[in-house]
Amino acid sequence: MSEIDLEDLPGVGPATAEKLREAGYGTVESVATATTSDLAEAAEIGEGTAKKVILAARKMADIGGFKTGRDILDKRKDVKKLKTLVPEFDELVGGGLETQAITEVYGEFGSGKSQLVHQMAVNAQLAEELGGLHGCVIYVDTENTFRPERIEQMVNGLPEDADLGVLEDILERIHVARAHSSDHQMLLLETARELANDLRKSEYPAKLFVIDSLTSLFRSEYAGRGTLAARQQKLNRHMHD
Ligand SMILES: Nc1ncnc2c1ncn2[C@@H]1O[C@H](COP(=O)(O)OP(=O)(O)OP(=O)(O)O)[C@@H](O)[C@H]1O
Ligand SMILES: [Mg+2]
Repeated sequence: MSEIDLEDLPGVGPATAEKLREAGYGTVESVATATTSDLAEAAEIGEGTAKKVILAARKMADIGGFKTGRDILDKRKDVKKLKTLVPEFDELVGGGLETQAITEVYGEFGSGKSQLVHQMAVNAQLAEELGGLHGCVIYVDTENTFRPERIEQMVNGLPEDADLGVLEDILERIHVARAHSSDHQMLLLETARELANDLRKSEYPAKLFVIDSLTSLFRSEYAGRGTLAARQQKLNRHMHD
């Protein structure tokens, strides 16, 4: 996530920026990775202009350059692991869920995806020595399945030395938004980004971002095979945002 505004791109004024946002291009990174024709169509600009905007975005977002293996190793040193605290599960995922990455959880209904993200919303607050990230959580709920009561049960199951304060404090550190449509879900990323910025200097900066579920609203709005390409394109953009 960058802090560069779309309006900072040469050739992008407020009106074009708005059109881009509406089409799901919320960040300079998403513009940088767009195709010329998609961007031209979304912003209603010529392909020549679109090409220039994309090139400028790549430069600004520092995307598309080569790095050495050593640079990447250095960057990997900042990667932390958020534990589920179920030893077998943690082992299965290489010691915990990695930070600086998107982890996709899939499985049939009732298989425990929502339970897992509830647990992670608690665990992320724990100290790093205990398997957490000492951070707060931003949680987008598209299926209305977030339950504070379930968080309470999970808090009661925490180790004695968890030291997270009372239940109210723990719930205060989980920022939940309901998304009502796929467009709303994409717009919430913008709000989430602002919230994360506001929390950056606080005692518990945002360390975990949850969407439960990523695809349900897209699935119901883009029904049928004919809409598959459009749906995948939007989802892809959403994932890069
Ligand atoms: N309080 C609880 N204690 C123990 N197990 C629970 C509790 N609440 C729910 N479960 C278990 O979790 C399962 C539901 O899992 P969950 O809601 O996480 O599924 P899901 O993968 O998110 O499903 P969906 O695709 O429908 O969203 C239930 O089958 C139930 O067995
Ligand atoms: Mg669920």
